Amino acid sequence: IKNVGVYTSGGDAPGMNAAIRAVVRSALYYDLNVTGIRRGYEGMITGDMFSMDRKSVANIIQRGGTILKTARSDQFRTPEGRKIAYENLKKNNVDALVAIGGDGTFTGAKIFGKEFGIPILGMPGTIDNDLLGTDFTIGYDTAINTVIDAVDKIRDTAESHDRLFIVEVMGRDSGLIALRSGIAAGAEAVLIPESKTDLNALFHRLEQGRRDKSSKIVIVAEGEEAGGAFEYGHLIKERFPNYDTRVSVLGHIQRGGPPSCMDRVLASRIGVAAVEGLLDGRHGEMVGIVNGEISYTPFENAIKHNVDINPDYLKIVDILSL
Ligand code: F6P
Repeated sequence: IKNVGVYTSGGDAPGMNAAIRAVVRSALYYDLNVTGIRRGYEGMITGDMFSMDRKSVANIIQRGGTILKTARSDQFRTPEGRKIAYENLKKNNVDALVAIGGDGTFTGAKIFGKEFGIPILGMPGTIDNDLLGTDFTIGYDTAINTVIDAVDKIRDTAESHDRLFIVEVMGRDSGLIALRSGIAAGAEAVLIPESKTDLNALFHRLEQGRRDKSSKIVIVAEGEEAGGAFEYGHLIKERFPNYDTRVSVLGHIQRGGPPSCMDRVLASRIGVAAVEGLLDGRHGEMVGIVNGEISYTPFENAIKHNVDINPDYLKIVDILSL
């Protein structure tokens, strides 16, 4: 291979810039050319590509967002769209790709790689941590730190007013952001899609805790089956009309901000391994880190979406929030 194309796709995540930087700098280190593709698959279709050098990634390791921008492309879902994308890559002499994103990005990469025989490796870039084949995705650590910073602040005001707060966090259909940040923020309860919520047990816990605690925080993952913070807020208000209850949905602040040290190092390690993997002839895989070691997982396995929740974590919430 001579020219690696790099793109970010799907929801952005802190650390994507560190990932782009790692790909560009390691490709140059191995005497490859690098082409940046703007807005993921959308940019392949519109031909929005440019040659990247060391300077194009200077001073970005610490920045949130993605300098390559990102998008979700409907046209790329069609064979016609993918054909145009491939022709544009050929026109720009791109003969291998590094895809930075989550399940949607890798689903596209899997189909595209098979259709046109172009080698593609993926880097896990999503705050949700919902991919198999890596202990952590790039952006997750920063996002959970943003969540605990926000919940700590909510705790201050909750404590002053003796209030109960229901805080909704992101994660799509995964409860991993909720669970880890819930433990770290000392939440009284964490409600996640992977575990069925026992409403009576929740009410009991809130009632008991109410006796000797002035503030309470319930963290709800947005994908929780009963429907999120407003629905739970409603149920709790109905059951405890005397409690001063408030709802707070954290939203997209979870996707922004400078990446943590952990996300920068993760992105840097995986970026170098992605370029080295392409040079070793690997393709159709996501590069991750499992137990401290680089590992490669076929796209179809990485996106399976059944990342296990460690039941010990739920138990920890129960034990420590008493
Ligand atoms: O996948 C990242 C994520 O932030 C999810 O946690 C969330 O469900 C979704 O993206 C939100 O997407 P959008 O920014 O398109 O509203």
